[in-house]
Order: sequence, then C-alpha cells, then structure tokens
Amino acid sequence: MSVKLKVIGYLVRKETCEEIETALGSISNVVLSMHLQDGEWSLKSVGDEEIPDIIIYEIDGSKEEEIQDLEKILQEFAQRVTVYVTEKNGDIETMRRLMRAGVRDVFPQPIQTHELVNAVTNILSEKRTRLGQSKGGKGGVTSFISAKGGCGATTIAMNVAEILAHTFEAKVLLIDLDVQFGDAALLLDLIPGNNVMDALLQPHRVDPVFLKALITRHGSGLDVLASPADISSMGGISSDGVTSLIDAAVEVYDFVILDVPRVLTSWTMEALRCSDPVMLVGQNNLSSIRDAKLILDKIKQEGIPADNIEVINNRAMSKEGSIDINKLKETLGIERMHKASNDYKASVYSQNQGQPVEEISRGSKFTKDLHALAEYLYVLQKGETKKKGLFDKLFSK
Ligand SMILES: Nc1ncnc2c1ncn2[C@@H]1O[C@H](COP(=O)(O)OP(=O)(O)O)[C@@H](O)[C@H]1O
Ligand SMILES: [Mg+2]
Repeated sequence: MSVKLKVIGYLVRKETCEEIETALGSISNVVLSMHLQDGEWSLKSVGDEEIPDIIIYEIDGSKEEEIQDLEKILQEFAQRVTVYVTEKNGDIETMRRLMRAGVRDVFPQPIQTHELVNAVTNILSEKRTRLGQSKGGKGGVTSFISAKGGCGATTIAMNVAEILAHTFEAKVLLIDLDVQFGDAALLLDLIPGNNVMDALLQPHRVDPVFLKALITRHGSGLDVLASPADISSMGGISSDGVTSLIDAAVEVYDFVILDVPRVLTSWTMEALRCSDPVMLVGQNNLSSIRDAKLILDKIKQEGIPADNIEVINNRAMSKEGSIDINKLKETLGIERMHKASNDYKASVYSQNQGQPVEEISRGSKFTKDLHALAEYLYVLQKGETKKKGLFDKLFSK
C-alpha cells in the first residue's frame, strides 16, 4: 500500500491556504488539512490526533502563544514532523527564533509551487525509504512487457491504465517507454506536445513539476507520457534517466503504468526493477511460451525478484487448441497467471478508432478481463476495492 503524507497548514490568510492547496492538490499521496489561525483548531491538538508529517506555518501577525506551541512541537516531535514557515511581511525576529528551534525552511510569498512541491515530495520519498517501501508500494508501478512482439503488452497496459483512471477514478500515468515504436498516444488518439525522451535524457531536470509539463491528458482523465513520433536512438538513455522519471511519477500518481519495449538493455531492466508487479504478457502458444521462459530467466538473473513477476495469458481461448493453464504455470515456474480473452473485433476496432476497449465493447468478456486486471492492481495498491458506483459505471451506456 502507498505511503501517505499528512500535511497540516496553519495559516493566517485564506490566499495562502489556496496557494498551498493548488500546489499540493495534485500530489496523490498527500493528505492536506488546512486551518486558519483564528479558527477553532489549534496547534495544541497536534499529538492528540495522528501526528502530521509536515506543518506549514504562516508567521505574519501570529500570537506569542502559538509561536510557543510550535516551538514545543519542534522539540517534542523533532524526529517525526518537518516544519516549514511562510511569511509575507518579514518578521525577521520570529523567523530566526523558529529557525533556531528547528524549522526546516522558509517559503517567502507568493509561494513558489515548484519549491513547495519539491520540498514535500522529498519528505515523501524520505518517509518511503524509512519504511522500506518499494517505489509507490505494491501496485504503484506496474510494467507490461511482451513475451514476444505482438502479444498485446501495449494493448493491455493502455486499457488497464485507462480503466484505472476512468472507472476507478485514480490518478494514473501511462509512460510509453517504447521510444522507437511506441503507439500508446496513437491508440488513444492523442497528439502529444512533448514526449518521454524529454525526461529520459535530462534526469537532473526531472521532478514532479517538470514531469507534469510533459504529459498529455486523455478524455478519460488518464495522463500519458508518450513516446516520440520518430524512431529515436536509445543510445543516450541511462538507468538514471529511468529512475528519476519513475521517482517523480510515483510522487504525483496513484498508479504508474510502464509500457516497456522488449529490448534487454540496462535501462529497460531498471524499469522492470522499479516495478512491482512486472506483468509479462504472453499468449498460449508454443513460440510465445518459449520466449516467455527465456525472458523470465533473464529478468530473474537481472535481480528482479520472482515474486514480483506475473504472467498474463492474452488472447486466451476457451476452446480446445490452447495449452493447459496448470501446465503453463508449471513450465514457466510462475504462481500468478491472469487472463485476457481473445477479442479480435474489439481490438482492431479500438485500435482504428483510437478509443479504449471499454468504450468500444462495454460488457464484453475482454473488457471484463481488463477490468479485473485493473481491479487487481487497485487492490494491491489501495488494500481494498473501490465500491461506490463502479458496477453502474462499467455497465451503463
Ligand atoms: N486480447 C486480444 N484479442 C485480440 N487481439 C488482441 C488482443 N490483445 C491485443 N490484440 C492485438 O494484437 C496486436 C498486437 O498488440 P500490441 O498490444 O501492440 O502488442 P505488443 O505491445 O505486445 O507488441 C494488436 O493489433 C492488438 O489489437
Ligand atoms: Mg508494444
């Protein structure tokens, strides 16, 4: 499950409240509670309630008693709470006093979104490291990779991402790492202004704000970081490029879905290492199974834990001709096997229309299977399924 960050704003002005809400509202793992200093809430209740990770305190005109309360918090919860102050009028005396007491930093007003988002996301990743969590927690970053070209990795990645964003109303980013032949944007009928290379080639520049500027939004609410329109050279891509991109993405999104090309390079392996689960998409025929086995062996050698790898049996057929699933699991040495039904008509139509499968054939077996996969990831990440209205939404016209 994902790590949450509790942020309390204790502020003098309404405008400061709004500035902070706008800046941090898009970070999915931040739980904000904002209070005005002349309201009912006071710093005295910190400690009675769940202890926050961050307090943002506005010092202009605040009372002596409140400054003392803040000093007390800094003393008592020094290891747990990070305190930032923000100010407009420059009460240097109070500021120095609070800095001595352990305030981490000062945000002059108007607050720079970029600075605040970076400060908060750094605390979030410190917390995650402290708790020994993988990036984004289980289900936070999921890779889809094809056992053999054409097995359906892109189709499933794109549709699962779209269902998570649309039906599950989650914050989802689909990253098309197939920089040479990626077609996620085409499949969603998007015309991206920027692409994934802008991030991959500039690891030092990538942070949540920079990332946001690169994405293209789909009508379903899904954010897409598309691959370039031309065939880009993969030469300049480093593992660093991949990790800084994923690090920034997990701070802002509930789900990061990676479409990983079937090329075995250090950076594609890094993308798989950052993912949990890794979904290997295969088909139930001998040549795909052979390749699936080769890839599974290779990625295990690369240090990707077997526990993180799952297989999707795509274009599954209910009739004869397909290989026994238990035998398949045994051959691949894999515990978890998902299935996506064969649906040529919906797949081709969806592709040609640039529309997700759930829009093309609502209620079909294939849509239900894609939905089950999305729900599987949702439960992994959130610990429970989304109940309200989901069924209605899925099957309504
Ligand atoms: N479950 C399915 N049933 C029928 N056709 C499918 C299914 N999944 C994918 N396809 C089709 O297979 C082709 C290859 O899919 P794609 O997702 O591009 O594969 P990959 O990314 O693994 O190379 C596409 O034409 C797609 O529409
Ligand atoms: Mg593909």
